[in-house]
Amino acid sequence: MVYMMKFSNKAKKINSSAIREILKVTQSSDIISFAGGVPTPDCFPLEDIKSAMHDLMISKNFSNALQYGPTEGYLELRKWIANYISSREAITLTQDNVLIVSGSQQALDLVGKCFINENDDLFVTDPTYLGAIQAFSIYDPNFVPISQLEELTQSPQNNVLLYIIPNFNNPTGNQLTLEERNKITAYCNNKNMLIIEDDPYGDLSYSGKRSPSILSLAQKNTIYLGSFSKILSPGMRLGYIIAEPEIIKKLVQFKQASDLHTSSFVQYIVFNILNKNNFLVEHLKEIRNVYREKCTVMLKALNQYMPKSVSWNEPNGGMFIWLTLPNYMDGKKLLDMAIKKKVAFVPGEFFFSKEKRSNFIRLSFVTNSNDAIINGIRTLSLIISENEQANDS
Ligand SMILES: Cc1ncc(COP(=O)(O)O)c(C=O)c1O
Repeated sequence: MVYMMKFSNKAKKINSSAIREILKVTQSSDIISFAGGVPTPDCFPLEDIKSAMHDLMISKNFSNALQYGPTEGYLELRKWIANYISSREAITLTQDNVLIVSGSQQALDLVGKCFINENDDLFVTDPTYLGAIQAFSIYDPNFVPISQLEELTQSPQNNVLLYIIPNFNNPTGNQLTLEERNKITAYCNNKNMLIIEDDPYGDLSYSGKRSPSILSLAQKNTIYLGSFSKILSPGMRLGYIIAEPEIIKKLVQFKQASDLHTSSFVQYIVFNILNKNNFLVEHLKEIRNVYREKCTVMLKALNQYMPKSVSWNEPNGGMFIWLTLPNYMDGKKLLDMAIKKKVAFVPGEFFFSKEKRSNFIRLSFVTNSNDAIINGIRTLSLIISENEQANDS
């Protein structure tokens, strides 16, 4: 078709997120899907959102919420975030350190635009968030995957970026220890290297305890990405970037060119919700209880049904369990078989930035009932066992 010829070189290279394509297949109601990375709607604070909307509609701010706003974001919300993170991390931030964005996915794109030149070395953990690989790929970095921290600290490169999800990583569910955080920040400080700390899951720690953020350990060279998607609602598309004011100013210029600003209406509503006494503390307790229980149910089912050749991590927070299959097993082929038996998950290979490794799968447990989790894992275990037997014979 003639218009295909008109696409830019970047347009010719970009692909749809593999997960979004898989989700389309798995949305049928008779499928037990462990594929989505979405929060459970059971935890959306519907009544608080309704009452925040009502309060806004009868307040003198209503017209402002319907008007264009500053690119940096709604001042009261920026101040709230600066205070919240300052007291949580024992650091000092002001509104000048905060840029409101339309979800942290937009933050990844803005950071890519602002910092990545073609062929720049971009260190990423291996595996890492597929949406980050997709966002950064547009700017043609040289991805340097690291599976062990030592690979980073022994590398000779200078002046590069590191992208990292320290808390309950998507896809692995793993968390960095304090020692690892200290090592990373010491190394990056020494090399004068920028760290992009992506933290949508840190508040979902099952114990309620948080490790110090990379931001708190290396404030000058960290760009921290926060999101309300997993703790309020992803449909609101609200997140934020915390960085040094000079960096925020530059990011603002890119955001201006991209969408002028994030929805004022949503920002006012979210500010009204957050500003309610103790809302977040109580709401986070509720989400953590639900997610901890579902995680425990899945771990128990895995222990009961999975063959010995499969291993997995036991997360302390977040939404994901990462399964390692026997070397010869391919997650994509397994998905085709599983869908026929009405179970879905995401094959792990999409989360590797360079060398695709196929014997992994990501399971998300948060949107299923306990019964569905148990039945889905039992079915999946049977398929894997049958596969194993076929390979042995
Ligand atoms: C690690 C990570 N970063 C960023 C995002 C994007 O989140 P948001 O909804 O804030 O754009 C996600 C979404 O799943 C994620 O897992």
